[in-house]
Amino acid sequence: MSTVLILGGTGEARDLAALLAAVDRQPHGVPVPPAALERREVAELRVVSSLAGRVARPRLPVGEVRIGGFGGPERMASWLRAEGVGCVVDATHPFAERISASAALATAAAGIPLLRLQRPGWEQDLDDVWHWVDSLPEAASLLPELGRRVFLTTGRQGLRAFTAVDDAHFLIRCVDPPEPADLPADHELLLARGPYTVEGELALIDRHRLDVIVTKDSGGRLTAAKLDAARTRRLPVIVVRRPGRPQLPEVATATDAAAWVRARLR
Ligand SMILES: NC(=O)c1ccc[n+]([C@@H]2O[C@H](COP(=O)([O-])OP(=O)(O)OC[C@H]3O[C@@H](n4cnc5c(N)ncnc54)[C@H](OP(=O)(O)O)[C@@H]3O)[C@@H](O)[C@H]2O)c1
Repeated sequence: MSTVLILGGTGEARDLAALLAAVDRQPHGVPVPPAALERREVAELRVVSSLAGRVARPRLPVGEVRIGGFGGPERMASWLRAEGVGCVVDATHPFAERISASAALATAAAGIPLLRLQRPGWEQDLDDVWHWVDSLPEAASLLPELGRRVFLTTGRQGLRAFTAVDDAHFLIRCVDPPEPADLPADHELLLARGPYTVEGELALIDRHRLDVIVTKDSGGRLTAAKLDAARTRRLPVIVVRRPGRPQLPEVATATDAAAWVRARLR
């Protein structure tokens, strides 16, 4: 039995787990679709998805799931050896830096191939008023020049950078509640999980009289509606650039990652 580890927490990771598990879910007596025939070569595939365990009610991928940190790269390497993992796909979020660094070190130590599955970043249109920054503190420093009613969509982590911004109201949207100490004084919390629609984002902008948006360059369609809405309302958007990553073979789609896994484990 070949084992693949998917480091997850993203839609792409769930798509990959579903693609690799598809052959196992084919009901008896139902003709196997041609694409699945190819997967027969690795029908004896064990797919393990790994989640950090940060979100209270995570969207779970199909198949086997382990939850929680590994305890650093050395322990991840031991885990990979103990579980007989044949290859690893790092499909974590573009801003999850530590786990990617850990995966690069652990797979190198264990001599296991590693692929990065990462969705492309967002692309700016001519009509967009985007201000690129390298970090959340830089975004916070730029805010007073751009607006007073802020739609903050950078997630629960790193919010503390905005506590120093006076004279601004924040609508903060995240999946789970942040630590109270991380919140700016004048804020409203909106607990929600994408996907979002342009109509919904426009309604939020209008109802809360928002005049600037802060986002990470997460990429993907699930959370892109705020950018379309900002373009429609001509709002400035502060976009935090992606952090640097270890140099690795990389693909942008779950389909390409599944092909890589099949080629590794054939
Ligand atoms: N950062 C974001 O903006 C963002 C947005 C959406 C989803 N996510 C997802 O949320 C998770 C945590 O993100 P983060 O930014 O906190 O990560 P991070 O800073 O890179 O990781 C911090 C620690 O959490 C553990 N960890 C992270 N992802 C893991 C995974 N998939 N499986 C097992 N352990 C994991 C590792 O602990 P040990 O050192 O103990 O192994 C890692 O050192 C990731 O899986 C990511 O895909 C992140």
